[in-house]
Parts: sequence; C-alpha cells; structure tokens
Amino acid sequence: MTETIITLKKADLTLGTAAARVHVLKGIDLDIEAGASVGIIGPSGSGKSTLLMVLAGLERLDGGEIVIADTALHTLSEDALADFRGKNIGIVFQSFHLIANMTALENVAVPLELANVANAFDIARRELTAVGLGERLEHYPGQLSGGEQQRVAIARALAPSPAVLIADEPTGNLDTETGRQIADLLFAKQAERGMTMLLVTHDTSLASRCSRQIRVRSGQIVDDGLSGHTPQVVSA
Ligand SMILES: Nc1ncnc2c1ncn2[C@@H]1O[C@H](COP(=O)(O)OP(=O)(O)O)[C@@H](O)[C@H]1O
Ligand SMILES: [Mg+2]
Repeated sequence: MTETIITLKKADLTLGTAAARVHVLKGIDLDIEAGASVGIIGPSGSGKSTLLMVLAGLERLDGGEIVIADTALHTLSEDALADFRGKNIGIVFQSFHLIANMTALENVAVPLELANVANAFDIARRELTAVGLGERLEHYPGQLSGGEQQRVAIARALAPSPAVLIADEPTGNLDTETGRQIADLLFAKQAERGMTMLLVTHDTSLASRCSRQIRVRSGQIVDDGLSGHTPQVVSA
C-alpha cells in the first residue's frame, strides 16, 4: 500500500480585502501519495499558485485541514510552521527568487545557516556541484544565465533534503531547451531522492511526464488524476 504524504480536507481560502476579496480555494479535497510526481494544470487565475503556497505552508487556510508527513499544518504556530517548512518543503519559483547581493554559494548556504544546520557551506557546495554549478560558486545571480539561476534555486530547495519539492512554473521564464534541461534535472532529483514533487505548469507535455496530473479550475479540482475518476464539482 502506498503511504499518503499530503492530505487536504475541505481546504478553503479567501484572499484580498473588502471589494477585492476573491474566494480562491473552494473546499479542496486531495490526497497525494509519497513519492509521486504531480503535475498541476489549469487556467491562469484558477488558484494553482495559491494551492502551492498553502501546500508550502506559506499561506494559511481559512477553513479545512492540511496534513503533510503526519503534521497538521493548520494547528501549528507561525514559528512551528516556519520550522516545519524549512525542514520538509523545498520551493522553486518561476522567477528564481535569488538574493542579488549574495553569491550562488551564499544563496544556498545562508538559509541552511539560519536553520542552524551544521556544515552549511559544505552542503551548499555539494548541492551546487550536483546541479552542475561547481564552477559557478562565487558568481552572483546577475552573472548567471536564467537556467543557471534556476539551478541555484533548485540546489537551495534541495539542500535541506525536503520530503516534498514544490515548483511553480519552474520553466516559465526559460527558453524551450533550457526549460527541458531544468525539467530533466527536477525529475532526476525527484527519482534519486524519492521525493514527492508537485509541479504547476502551463506546459502539458511537462505535466504529462508526471506520474499523476491534477486539473484545477476556478478554485476547485475538476480532475484529480486518479483512474479516470472525476470528482463532482459543486459551484460555490
Ligand atoms: N493576495 C491576493 N489577494 C487577492 N486576490 C488574490 C491574491 N492572490 C491571488 N489572488 C486571486 O486568486 C486567484 C487565483 O490566483 P493564483 O493562485 O495566482 O492563480 P494561478 O496560479 O492559477 O494563475 C486569482 O483570481 C487572483 O487574482
Ligand atoms: Mg500561478
């Protein structure tokens, strides 16, 4: 039997204030099996990034439950949530989110140091070498190509050995060939470490490389990718 690593139950979230309030996640139920690669697709504005932010512990639910690796995130304090996130979840964004005045090595090592990990710089050097950047350790983000910057971001995400890797349009800012190389790297790392990977993408061929595809529309899961079963969608 496969172990479930992520469970959402009636996950609900409204964002914004006053007239600009948007009901972004509308009672999402979802189970994800450990070690899966999950491609999340759906129209722009359908709630994909918000769903990832919730799964990353960066956004809190208004209602419902979220359990990751047997930890109920909705019950944690801010500090406990930040600690959980740092140890268990790696995140990669479309626009890399590197710190411009830190070298590649510092971008990977400093978050580890802040989390009190011993040998942070040794681990960072190893992770950067493993994504092919052994010769770029002292480069600043502005001195690196887009693909190289995304490799730094991937090394940073992988450095704490997270159980779950979350990637929001990781190839969205890259040309086709570089995007393919970055996707290959993500799938290789996922297989090598047995991580669970959640990948939001507009690219259906990239989503189809995942072991499971989930389709989101208007804050709901309209296809959960399990054996052709489509959950009934109730409009909110
Ligand atoms: N902080 C926010 N305040 C108000 N509305 C938001 C906020 N963040 C996202 N939204 C709205 O929530 C919806 C889903 O956004 P998002 O999760 O970014 O969608 P996707 O990633 O699928 O394009 C959009 O309508 C967006 O405008
Ligand atoms: Mg998005």
